[in-house]
Amino acid sequence: MEVVRTIVQTRQAVGAARASGRKIALIPTMGYLHAGHLSLVRLAKTRADYIVVSLFVNPTQFGPQEDFSKYPRDEARDRGMLEAEGIDLLFAPEVRSIYPQEPRITFAIRGLADHLCGARRPSHFNGVLLIVSKLFNVVQPDIAVFGQKDLQQLLLIQRMVEELNFPLEIVAGPTVREPDGLAMSSRNSYLTSAERRQSSILYRALQRAKALMEGGEREAERVIAQMRELIRSEAPLGQIDYISIVDLDGLQPRKKLDGRCAIALAVHFGRARLIDNLVLEISADGVREIPAIV
Ligand code: PAJ
Repeated sequence: MEVVRTIVQTRQAVGAARASGRKIALIPTMGYLHAGHLSLVRLAKTRADYIVVSLFVNPTQFGPQEDFSKYPRDEARDRGMLEAEGIDLLFAPEVRSIYPQEPRITFAIRGLADHLCGARRPSHFNGVLLIVSKLFNVVQPDIAVFGQKDLQQLLLIQRMVEELNFPLEIVAGPTVREPDGLAMSSRNSYLTSAERRQSSILYRALQRAKALMEGGEREAERVIAQMRELIRSEAPLGQIDYISIVDLDGLQPRKKLDGRCAIALAVHFGRARLIDNLVLEISADGVREIPAIV
């Protein structure tokens, strides 16, 4: 595994791989890796033969009151994990080489960022699209792999690639969970042991929603009310940020449940803001989970 810090070195390494006919995959991360990140690496390996991981805690996607400076970092550990996975290139740049000057370009994203996390974190997705488009231009991968755990991020990136004609394919990986259902996240390290015990409530609330739909419930409001009640009664340390059922095209809230929809929620536990979602296909045959939309 080669480790590089600069854009020039990255272009050289990837350029050589491309010249030798290899198919390039990029997995962007902010590090402090866990099994969810590694599952994306393994998925990439089934689709490509030169695997690039980027490790960069991107300042432009953190709000002024958010956890940029406190975000967990352990590059030595991440390097070890990626080496063990047999990746080819780790791109771990300094902030100043990615942002040598204050960025002036912003992404104004109509519709897709009005709800869910976009509504709660106003400049967050602008920062995500800024860094992801830079990484796409630096690495020029054939495919880029993202987790469905961050569904709104995935859909926005997919839309950006389509609308701006980035010459690459987006691949989605299913959410990897702890044994009790909690979606893996670098931010889980913020949880106290009491918070950690209650944090499986996000997954349990999603499963409750799915069970209600399997039982024939088609009113979004009633499903959401039951999820709220479950969280209120079983996870008193959790503060609900939002619970929403949205369509997958525009991420607009749904009233009646049919076809493809996503149930998404964000809950604060102490310092950690946890998110999770389930994508479901509701038809006459029943309710089916779609773990990876692309
Ligand atoms: P980060 O939170 O480090 O996540 C990197 C990638 O791992 C994202 O595609 C995310 O969806 C995926 N991921 C996180 N938890 C996962 C889990 N439990 N199962 C499967 N995949 C999971 O998302 C970001 O970083 C940043 O916003 C980034 C895209 C790198 C831009 O800075």
